[in-house]
Formats: sequence, C-alpha cells, structure tokens
Amino acid sequence: MSTVQQVSSEAFSNIAFVKYWGKYGRQYPCNPSISMPIPQCKSFCSMEFELDDSNHGIESFEFEGSENTEFKNRINNYLESISDVYPLSNKLRLKIKTSNNFPHSAGIASSASAFAAIAKCLVQIEEIVVGKIENLNDRASMLARLASGSACRSISESEFTIWGKTKFDIGSNEFTQDVQLSDQTKDKLGWPLLDTILVVSSETKKVSSSQGHALMNTHLYKDARIEQAHENMRVIYSAIQNADLKTFGEIIENEALSLHALMMTSYPSFCLLHPNSLKIIELVKEFREQTGTNLYFTIDAGPNIHLIYPNIEKKIINEFITTNLLSLSESIIWGEPSEQ
Ligand code: PMV
Repeated sequence: MSTVQQVSSEAFSNIAFVKYWGKYGRQYPCNPSISMPIPQCKSFCSMEFELDDSNHGIESFEFEGSENTEFKNRINNYLESISDVYPLSNKLRLKIKTSNNFPHSAGIASSASAFAAIAKCLVQIEEIVVGKIENLNDRASMLARLASGSACRSISESEFTIWGKTKFDIGSNEFTQDVQLSDQTKDKLGWPLLDTILVVSSETKKVSSSQGHALMNTHLYKDARIEQAHENMRVIYSAIQNADLKTFGEIIENEALSLHALMMTSYPSFCLLHPNSLKIIELVKEFREQTGTNLYFTIDAGPNIHLIYPNIEKKIINEFITTNLLSLSESIIWGEPSEQ
C-alpha cells in the first residue's frame, strides 16, 4: 500500500497591464501580455495524495471548508486533459482543499490564483514522486496555463511577468518570464505599485473568458489588435525599465479601454462596463490632471476598476478614493504592498 503524503502552496492573483485577449491551439495567446501580482489577493491549496493506478482521480474537493462538486468536476476534467503532459494524473488519488483570502463573490477573478496554487502543488508532487524538476516555475506556469491562460502569470512573484512571445526577443507562449527591477528603478517608480480594486458590481459575468477569447477568432479588428498589443508591450517594457510612470499609465489605460472596445465591437457584442465604471474613469482623469499624481486605472473583462498607483503617493490618493470613489462602488479591496 502506498503512503499518503501532503503538499501545499499559495499564489497571488495578477492584474494584466497589456491584456491577453484571444487564444489558439492549446491555450496559446494570440498576443503577449504583461502583469503584476496582486499581493492582497491570494489563493491557498493543499493536496493529500497517494499513488493509486486503479482508482485515480479526486476523492474530495473542499473549497473554503465545504465540499464543492462543481470545482471537483472541473479539476477532474483538467487533470484528465493534461494526462499527456502530466502522466501522474492517471496515477494519483487526491484530496484537495482550496481557499482564497479575498471574497469569492466580489467579482474578482479567483481562477488565476486558484489554478496557479493547484499547479504549484502538482509540480511539488511530481518532484516527490518522479524526482528533481529543473525549472520548477516554468513547469508550474505551463500546467497553470493549460487550466486558465492568465493563471500562468500567477506562478511568478516577481515585479512584473511576461507571457507570450514578444517582438523584442523576450517571452514564450508556453510559460512566463519574470521581469525584475533594480533597486534604483524601484526607487524612481515609487515602488511598490499598489492595486486598489473598486468592486463596482459583483454580479456574475455576462460573458465567460472562454467565450470572450473566442470572439476574437472572427473579429474584424483581430490583426490590428495583435499589432497594437505588440507595440504596447514594446513601449510599456521600456517605460518600466526607464521608470517612466506617465507612459506606463497611458499604456495601461489604453489597453483597458481597447479590451472593452473589442468586446463592444464583437459579434455578439458585450458592454461589460457599468455607468459607475465610466464615472470613476472620468474622476480619476480629473484628479490626475488637478494634482499631477500617478493614479491610473485598468479594467478586466467586467465592470470593476483597478486603481494603480505608487506606494509613495498613497496618502493623497487613498484620501481621494475614500472621499470620491467609494460611494460609486459596492466594496473595495485596498492595495497593499507584498509582505516579502
Ligand atoms: O485567463 P482567462 O482565460 O480567464 O483570460 C483572462 C483575460 C483577461 O483577464 C481579460 C486579460 C488578462 O490578460 O488577464
């Protein structure tokens, strides 16, 4: 009889600044993307495992302390789908527990951090059973990508993370690449950058991300979008290296609005922004013009607004958020620096 062993892991959620939108083949991105971890939004996973060829699969799946059949089936399907690249999935009997430190129902995607935490556990098991893995993070990132594209960017905890082949010889479609900053660059940027999330509406998404990506297959602007993303990657990468927050901010806002413009001009079309999302955008722009601060926004495929700003400007910006933006949102998840 084989013994029962246990592994555990945690992973941060991430926010994309150049957005991944459109995919092909086996979860390959149509364009490269770049993101930053969201340290205040974490998922945790623990797995009890034993080798059992004849009875492999998930024995139990607990999400936040309760048995969850929907997640259990989803992860079982995922494990089956990766059996060619992760043959252990045909040999393991698993008891899985996951949880998040941020509200599940707040309209913040937890799939990236959850799948990243699951993939981290899978590679730990592989190391125990099969032996040393050379590039543990690359392997975990590849496995996370096969669960949900943006999850591959949640393996890394470095300042920025790139996924997808760029036109400047950085990045791979298979897994992510870290972008680390020198202390000098961090100082100039007022590091860390914070991400305060205004939950404008926590209603379930009108369109799943898989449906959203599929809309790009036949989109009239598909080629132009891919070009735009490559150019934005080039500009944002150099803005980061040069600690040029103004250019960085211009790109992230352009990307957020482009993502929504693409959805509004798809067939069928989707308007995912809420009237309050638009009000917040206007107020952020006004505040920035009046104060010269580095407060920028980005948005995922939903109505919630991510406010991005350097920690050193936190006092005045948090005051502005509390006084002017809180009333336009259902709830808020304040940006916090990473504890490390
Ligand atoms: O990882 P998915 O399939 O949920 O797609 C995520 C897409 C966006 O969040 C809209 C953009 C991104 O790069 O994270």
